[in-house]
Amino acid sequence: MSQHKEVKLVTTHQLLAMKQRGEKISMLTAYDFSMATILDGAGLDVLLVGDSASNVMAGHETTLPITLDQMIYHASSVIRGVKRAFVVVDLPFGSYQGNSSEALRSAIRIMKESGAHGIKLEGGAEIKESITRILTAGIPVMGHLGLTPQSIYKFGTYSVRAKEDAEAQKLIEDAKLLQELGCFALVLEKIPSTLAKRVTEELTIPVIGIGAGPDVDGQVLVVHDMLGINKEFKPRFLRRYADLHEIMSEAVRHYVQDVKSRDFPTQQEAY
Ligand code: KIV
Repeated sequence: MSQHKEVKLVTTHQLLAMKQRGEKISMLTAYDFSMATILDGAGLDVLLVGDSASNVMAGHETTLPITLDQMIYHASSVIRGVKRAFVVVDLPFGSYQGNSSEALRSAIRIMKESGAHGIKLEGGAEIKESITRILTAGIPVMGHLGLTPQSIYKFGTYSVRAKEDAEAQKLIEDAKLLQELGCFALVLEKIPSTLAKRVTEELTIPVIGIGAGPDVDGQVLVVHDMLGINKEFKPRFLRRYADLHEIMSEAVRHYVQDVKSRDFPTQQEAY
């Protein structure tokens, strides 16, 4: 018998049970093996291989350029670092909209080639067929409403969504539809807290917020933002838990100095 204590993976059933008993769900993005190892070891419930990799890993202005192959590369790296967390992967722009067969093919590729546990896609009624088709393959689907960055050129800005009644009403209807279709959870991005609270109360599936206030079932942030690696992005909803930009820059400045001054390496650091 193995001497290692078995660590159980977080499941969609456990996430649902967390909502039911009022335990908040913790979620952060991850894009690589080393970071995933740290985040999983620290006890996060859900890791999201977000298409925000397009911004924070590749330096693009939007999430649109990242490809399915690139998402699979990030996702498989994350999976290798995870023992416990539930890992969700974004279907990238162009891999699911308007064609449910392609959506299913893309979702299957992610699950098969990365070993992920579920996928996330952006939108409501307009992607209903894609969601239904993916669910038929037994793939857990997380929805994403409110500010949906893949539609940035439709919105024109990254400002708060659903402030007007008509958009708020559509968001509530979409949220209910996603639950009815069988999504196991929903992300609400950058919407008024009162609206997020209402959706959270009306849905039985977990609702995870980013810029959606405190009255949701869990919170998600982009890990590079909350660790202060990326310093430029300063929305009101972001809490910085570290200033890794400064810590890393200082360490590298120190290394450069030590190399130039021949302080590194010493005889003890040589063979
Ligand atoms: O891609 C991402 O990082 C996301 C989160 C902002 C929810 O979708």
